[in-house]
Amino acid sequence: MTTAMEEKYRAYSQRLCEISQAHLLAFWPQLSERERVQLLDDLDQIDFARCLPLLDTYVRTHAAAAVPQHIDPPPSFPAEPGPTHADLYARARRAGEQAIRAGRVAAFTVAGGQGTRLGFDGPKGAYCISPIRNAPLFQIFAEGLLGTERRYGRRPRWYIMTSPANHTETTAFFAQHAFFGLSPDDVLFFQQRQMPAFLPDGRIALAEPHRVALSPDGHGGSLRALAESGALADMRRRNIDVVSYFQVDNPLVKPIDPLFVGLHLVSDSEMSSKAVAKAHDLERVGVFALADRKLTVIEYSDLPEDLARARNPDGTRRFDAGSIAIHVLNREFVERLTAPAATVQLPWHRAEKKVPTVDEHGRPLNPDKPNAVKLEMFVFDAIPLARNPVVLFTRREEEFSPVKNATGDDSPATTRRDMIRRAARWLEHCGGMVPRGTDGEPAQPIEISPAFALDADDLRQQLTNRPALLVGAPLLLA
Ligand code: UD1
Repeated sequence: MTTAMEEKYRAYSQRLCEISQAHLLAFWPQLSERERVQLLDDLDQIDFARCLPLLDTYVRTHAAAAVPQHIDPPPSFPAEPGPTHADLYARARRAGEQAIRAGRVAAFTVAGGQGTRLGFDGPKGAYCISPIRNAPLFQIFAEGLLGTERRYGRRPRWYIMTSPANHTETTAFFAQHAFFGLSPDDVLFFQQRQMPAFLPDGRIALAEPHRVALSPDGHGGSLRALAESGALADMRRRNIDVVSYFQVDNPLVKPIDPLFVGLHLVSDSEMSSKAVAKAHDLERVGVFALADRKLTVIEYSDLPEDLARARNPDGTRRFDAGSIAIHVLNREFVERLTAPAATVQLPWHRAEKKVPTVDEHGRPLNPDKPNAVKLEMFVFDAIPLARNPVVLFTRREEEFSPVKNATGDDSPATTRRDMIRRAARWLEHCGGMVPRGTDGEPAQPIEISPAFALDADDLRQQLTNRPALLVGAPLLLA
């Protein structure tokens, strides 16, 4: 053992004893040199000062989540403006386009999650999804930025949050694919923090004798990670003051939407969100609500079923604004929330999970029921802290088809289907002919790269002076 390692071990031994976490070093004498390095690295990842105060509130005991007294549907902007909103939307779109042209707007993808439900062994953004080229999610987003550059003359900067579990693989994936046509200088990767899993008595769980059970601290951790990584400072240097946030799982997303950015700006909002009408009462999406008069997202698991099923007098769903986890945030808002002197913090959400761990002899224990508590922060908990937060409805079929599960709803099959359906609609909008099968689906796969067209009107521009297309064979516009 090197002297440096010896010293570090001693320091941890003492500190862990003081905070009743000495078991983390219980297997030290049996560990190889390599395993010791690994264990010390894992310990370095833990912010003990941040974790320990949480033990009493979230682990050893915990109160039921506070239910707001009054929950009402929120005000929102409609997907289609109609006469009352037409002028505002036109003004907003111009403001958004201007901000994009001026380089004030950056894209931000949260890609630190573990993608357990999809069962894909790798960073989720590397998952191949497009119907003809089989392009990975990251490529689709990169092409969205290239399309934005083509249309507005400015390539937006791209911030990508990874986690220690997928950082190296993610950056290697970009390098291997020549950054999908972007330059390495256009992209800034940074890692989020991890949180340990806790056993019910407050001890931090070991995943193996030399590994702490660590997992990313939730997408809410992205705000702190933006600050700690220097990404916010990088934005400040470049005069970027608007951040367009989206998840890694949704290839229909518009990475940067001028109308949405513009509505955010003209509303003087600090954090804005997109919503779609829920597909059914119990769809697993968070819903927007006014909780005690503050705009909030209530996660599907926290929304009482009677509220999920509640109806307005006209029979429409009362809480219908489903969150698709697309937001625009002001850089200054994130700076305010993450400043060392910040007085408010995002709350933690606790989840009881099955966490593989070890017994007192270091033998693996694979629990068949939840044995540990994991804590995560959710980015949408920043919404009630924001000035003038707004919600913009959009059309699900245009902007939301996430890849979450291996089969069934929100799976690769439904996402590919929705990519083809959208491309077909866009072509028809431009006068193209799309033969359809008896089931009404396009008879041939169609793929439109976002670098080629960002939406139906953009496609019309791109196809000006071209004869109308007849889709008689698989069609790729890239
Ligand atoms: C999420 C939202 C839900 C919303 C739905 C829309 C939560 C708790 N729920 O559900 O309200 O309606 O998306 O698709 O977020 N991530 C990180 N780091 C983490 C955890 C997650 O970067 O520590 C990223 C993932 O890589 C992914 C995204 O956050 O891009 C979503 O995470 P996930 O846990 O899959 O959320 P959902 O349960 O699908």
